[in-house]
Amino acid sequence: MRMPLSPQAILDAFQATPSEEAWAFRKCTPSDTGKWTHDYHRYPAKFIPQLVERLLDEYITTPTAHINDPFMGCGTTIVTAIARGFYASGTDINRIAHLIARVKATPIEPNYLAQRIDHLFRLVKEYNPRTARIEPRVPERHIERIRYWFNESTIHDLGILLNLIHREEDARVRDFFLVAFSHILKRCSLWLQASTKPTRDVHKQPVAPFDAFRQHIKKMQDGNAAFYDVVPARVREAIDDYLNVRVGDARAQPVPSASVDLIVTSSPYVTSYAYADLHQLSTLWLDLTDDWREYRKEFIGAASTAYRPRALKSVLAQNIVAQLASRSPKMARDVETFFADMQEVFDESFRILKSGGRCCYVIGNTQLKGVDILNAQVFAESLQHSGFRLDRIIKREIPSKILPQKRDKKTGRFAKNQTADAEAYPVEYIVIGLKE
Ligand SMILES: C[S@@+](CC[C@H](N)C(=O)[O-])C[C@H]1O[C@@H](n2cnc3c(N)ncnc32)[C@H](O)[C@@H]1O
Repeated sequence: MRMPLSPQAILDAFQATPSEEAWAFRKCTPSDTGKWTHDYHRYPAKFIPQLVERLLDEYITTPTAHINDPFMGCGTTIVTAIARGFYASGTDINRIAHLIARVKATPIEPNYLAQRIDHLFRLVKEYNPRTARIEPRVPERHIERIRYWFNESTIHDLGILLNLIHREEDARVRDFFLVAFSHILKRCSLWLQASTKPTRDVHKQPVAPFDAFRQHIKKMQDGNAAFYDVVPARVREAIDDYLNVRVGDARAQPVPSASVDLIVTSSPYVTSYAYADLHQLSTLWLDLTDDWREYRKEFIGAASTAYRPRALKSVLAQNIVAQLASRSPKMARDVETFFADMQEVFDESFRILKSGGRCCYVIGNTQLKGVDILNAQVFAESLQHSGFRLDRIIKREIPSKILPQKRDKKTGRFAKNQTADAEAYPVEYIVIGLKE
């Protein structure tokens, strides 16, 4: 077994790592990255399937592999694993992410789906507001927030649509419809369309829910058919045996120890996206939480994350927190919490991997208050503290067309492209740990 690298040796190793052209996926088009079910729902900071595919190509040699993603987001890793006929497990604390990931990874027989869609569209077409006795299904306890984001007539139409969706008895099909419903909410709302942040645009002309829904369902239907074709029949027929995804914390994977072959994941970034807030339209309409304050505290890397003092094992992390402390004590605490939380996530990755298995963490560095937040280097050091050998560092450029967004140098938050004064992630890293 090789000795762990010292913090300085880790910094040097990153310095010496050139970016690898093959990992930039420069030629990928939106239809490549959005193939199959990958375009069912927008999701901030999702990674491209080609990156996962390549990692599977390089590291998986068995046809019965088990792939895990503790921060599965909208399920890019999970979908890719299922497409290859592997077992897929994972968690996300974001309830809407879990719904999206599960639906995207569940192929539905296309003819049957077409029938169910026709049935729903017929109900929508027959709906006549003057004669119908259908109550709009609007979650009463969130009505004030819903009124902030939606016009009254849109609320009515969305409520009717939701009611009709809930008449679908097949839970898989109903969830498929709910993902389409969730996806159209932004366009139907007053949420500033170009912004991922919750910003209201009172001059916006929201689109009509029934039209937007019909359009998006058609797109999803095509995606499902293409996905159905690639998923091996044995997996399609027993999807519940292959797919094990839960709402839950990254530090508690729903799998036994030493059962996973490969982890491919991208963690949240410290104080970047407030995932709970960003998905509030869906969380409100689908009534996924009754306590926003508590819900927000569960997210790693958010300014709202619960704080409890823990000693940081990573020396690089300690140095970063110390540098930040004099400039912003609040930010220093957020960063400390983030690194302490991630150390626990790495411990869990170590527990679930088989010996010889690897974890691949996709992560970029950033700046806060002028301090370099070397997430990737800290991850590399922390992986060693959890028992991993630092196996490989891949540095990849993110071609501008798929660059998520730019970050503001002072706050580290994502900003509009025109206004940001720093590149978001011109490069990012895949930090790979090996469980020997
Ligand atoms: C960078 S995104 C992952 C995107 C994903 N790779 C994809 O392709 O969609 C990070 C995810 O971590 C999730 N997350 C934040 N805190 C978490 C926690 N405590 N446990 C599990 N997931 C968490 C967020 O909800 C978000 O979906």
